Formats: sequence, C-alpha cells, structure tokens
Amino acid sequence: ISVLPTDYTIRPILRSDFNRGYLDVLRVLTTVGDISEEAWNKRFDWIRSRNDEYYLLVVCDGEDRVVGTGSLIVERKFIHSLGMVGHIEDIAVEKNQQGKKLGLRIIQALDYVAAQVGCYKSILDCSEANEGFYVKCGFKRAGLEMAHYY
Ligand code: ACO
Repeated sequence: ISVLPTDYTIRPILRSDFNRGYLDVLRVLTTVGDISEEAWNKRFDWIRSRNDEYYLLVVCDGEDRVVGTGSLIVERKFIHSLGMVGHIEDIAVEKNQQGKKLGLRIIQALDYVAAQVGCYKSILDCSEANEGFYVKCGFKRAGLEMAHYY
C-alpha cells in the first residue's frame, strides 16, 4: 500500500472544494466547462444525496489545495446474486503533482471502498497511454469500450 507525501491528505469531497481548485484538477482530464458555484452546489447536493452509490475522493496538499481526485460509482445488479460492480471514473492528478504516487493512492482508496461495500469487481475505461498506470494499480485489460455520443 502506497503512502501519501507528508502533509497530504485523502478524504471525501466537500462542497467547499469548489474553492480549493477541484474543477481545475479535473481540467487535466477533459473539458469541464464554466461551472458557477450555484450549479456546483446543486450537482454536489444531488451526488451527496446518493452517498451509498457515489464515492468521490480528493487528495489535498499541505496548503489544503485539491491536487488529485477520483470517483467510484457502485452499480447494483440482479445478476451474480444481486452483485455490485464498482465503476472507477474521473481519475485526475494536477500536472505538476504527477509521478508522486497520488494516482496510485487514489485507486487504492477507491478499491478499498469498493471491496468494503461488497463489489465483486471494479472496472474502468482508459486510453492506451494510461494502460501502464492501471496495470501498476492491479488492473488488467478486459474487453473493449464502445460509445454512442448524443
Ligand atoms: N503509463 C505507464 N505507467 C504510468 C503512467 C502511464 N501513463 N502514469 C503513471 N505510471 C506509473 C508510474 O511511473 C508509477 O510507477 P512506479 O510505481 O513503478 O513508480 C505508477 O504508475 C503510479 O503512478 P502515480 O505516480 O501514482 O501516477 P500519477 O499520480 O501521476 O497519476 C494519472 C496517474 C492519474 C494517469 C495522471 O497522470 C493524470 O492525472 N493524467 C491525466 C488525466 C488522466 O489521463 N486520467 C486517467 C483517465 S482514465 C479514468 O479516469 C478511468
């Protein structure tokens, strides 16, 4: 199990992370758009009301700025005797904080939550460029992603 650098913390997302640079961290991943605090609050409250389904974690540095994040969404199924599957989504580490094992630590924490809530597996989609990172986190290639954009 990897440890965080001194002074860094990992915890569930807070509403106030809007003012700690949360959305800028997500911008290393993809387009985020211009999100007002009001719109953030509304979405945050929706996610929080589903706190047995959405697990969003952040890593903060010693100055309490958000420098990394990752999400686990727990899907309840009928198959596999009412099995549950973890979906790992939106893993991002601020550019100048990459390579310090923060990404690994985020995945380990999400894996731990998934196992604790009873998921029989966790899955994710990634680019070929990130395959090596997820292999180091214990994942293996399984299947093929298909997408239909609207
Ligand atoms: N390819 C191969 N190996 C890698 C890669 C890579 N792209 N990135 C990291 N690694 C290795 C590291 O060298 C390290 O290996 P080591 O243990 O032998 O030293 C190990 O993986 C752990 O690396 P971390 O330091 O924990 O990685 P980092 O904190 O930089 O986070 C991440 C990796 C999340 C991919 C980061 O680079 C990032 O935010 N990238 C941009 C956004 C992105 O692509 N996110 C993933 C999208 S897929 C999804 O969200 C499901």
